[in-house]
Amino acid sequence: MKTAAEVKKAKGKKKIAVLSLYDAMFAIHADNVGIDLLLVGDSVSNVLLGFDSTKRIGMAEMQIFTKAVANAKPGCMVIGDMPYRSYTNKRTALENAKKFLKAGADAVKIEGNKYGIVMHLVKNKIPVMGHVGLLPQSAKKMRVHGKGEKEAKKIFDEALQLEKAGCFSIVLESMPAKLAKRITTALKIPTIGLGAGKYCDGQVLVAHDLLGINPHEFKPKFVKHFARLSPAIERAFGRFKKEVEQGKYPSRKYSYH
Ligand code: KIV
Repeated sequence: MKTAAEVKKAKGKKKIAVLSLYDAMFAIHADNVGIDLLLVGDSVSNVLLGFDSTKRIGMAEMQIFTKAVANAKPGCMVIGDMPYRSYTNKRTALENAKKFLKAGADAVKIEGNKYGIVMHLVKNKIPVMGHVGLLPQSAKKMRVHGKGEKEAKKIFDEALQLEKAGCFSIVLESMPAKLAKRITTALKIPTIGLGAGKYCDGQVLVAHDLLGINPHEFKPKFVKHFARLSPAIERAFGRFKKEVEQGKYPSRKYSYH
């Protein structure tokens, strides 16, 4: 899926698999197996840069990671996640969204009920993915959103408004499956769930999470480890250290003659 129109068309026809990743190598692997959309998430702040919040990353870093993913020339859409304070008003949002496109993104993602900003970007031909539910850039606490009827209605209304404003798709993060189902049924655009149950039109996970590359044992309920690479990585690093210390590496095979 290379365009917003193609993503919209997929609704009801196929489930959409999305990965949040930040570099060319992972992007090539994802493209090789036909992942539908690549999101350069601001979660890179936590995952690769070691910060404790997505708020710690800015446009300069996000452009570099976007370029890295775009350099893989994937056959699918690359979506740049607009970082904290990069869309505080229409003018700033448009300037920064254009920087994402220049870095190789095909679309941008924005958190929250920023209808005016979304309309402005869409009017300027920039495809926008919305994001409701848990919003890491503004949340005080990482928790499930929309458990109570009042908060559920607020999230439902926001999703509807974001569709109206022109979003081509919308991320539903950390909410009861029942609420995600209500939103998915009501919207014409595809919903992409992250901790939002099975009824969404697609699912997104952070690549590092699904690969089990996390020495800190970070694992929210919705993260499934499709592989467990942490122990394998530490085994390999440990073997390298041992062979260096023992003078076994590099052996003749790994030396120039
Ligand atoms: O930053 C991120 O990776 C995201 C997700 C929706 C996974 O926003």
